[in-house]
Amino acid sequence: SRRLRAVDIGKRKAEGRKIIALTAYHAHTAGIVDPYCDFILVGDSLGMVMHGMESTIPVTLEMMILQAQAVIRGTSKALVVVDMPFGSYEASREQAFLNAARVLKETGAGAIKMEGGAHFAETVAFLVQRGVPVMGHIGLTPQAVNTMGGFKVQGRAPDDERRLLEDARAISEAGAFAIVLEGIVEPVARAIATSPRVTAATIGIGASAFCDGQILVLEDMLGLSEKTPKFVRQFGSLRAHIEDAVKAYADEVRAGRFPADDHTYG
Ligand code: KIV
Ligand code: NA
Repeated sequence: SRRLRAVDIGKRKAEGRKIIALTAYHAHTAGIVDPYCDFILVGDSLGMVMHGMESTIPVTLEMMILQAQAVIRGTSKALVVVDMPFGSYEASREQAFLNAARVLKETGAGAIKMEGGAHFAETVAFLVQRGVPVMGHIGLTPQAVNTMGGFKVQGRAPDDERRLLEDARAISEAGAFAIVLEGIVEPVARAIATSPRVTAATIGIGASAFCDGQILVLEDMLGLSEKTPKFVRQFGSLRAHIEDAVKAYADEVRAGRFPADDHTYG
């Protein structure tokens, strides 16, 4: 069976089927989640999750391309979406197209994701008209950490609902096939997800159950990350599993029980 495409994500919304997504940055973890996901996001959160950076700002296009290549190699079914990192798309629609084209050409991914609201609608339309499927990302946009003054839930200020709805409509009408809604209070997330003018599929992360689909950072939901936001549910406890395995290994080596005969060439 062929790999899912951006248009298939839109069909899920039309059919009322929930869209399932996770992030992945490596061939092996991507391969494990592939059968269960409609799309896999190679997120720029890899800067924080894999590299210990304090924000996603330092992430480069080269880092995104390298991990997207790994994820494509490890998967066969899910659509692979790649984040455009900070500084790779904001200057002009031409810059956005040239860098997005590099991502699609060099990785084989089927779509890119860009953070930003109504002011990016023109860029979204420019890319979509030229063959680049675009996923939007509004609300808490981590690349805006320096102007937002931290990672803050969106939708609580008086004008937020109108502004976020306008962002979603503009990105959707520009041709985005989906929009990530991140860190948005339920009433506002609901208004966006149920708006007839937002035809793009809404993918929530900390944005209520009203969205058409959900995404989480894989390491967060597996219980591998040390600190996670309120919206994360830990479906696993990998950190404890890894610690147990590493402790057992150290104990066995120290005691002279590993390697045993089974692991030794005669
Ligand atoms: O980079 C990322 O992991 C993301 C998701 C949280 C949506 O953008
Ligand atoms: Na991201």
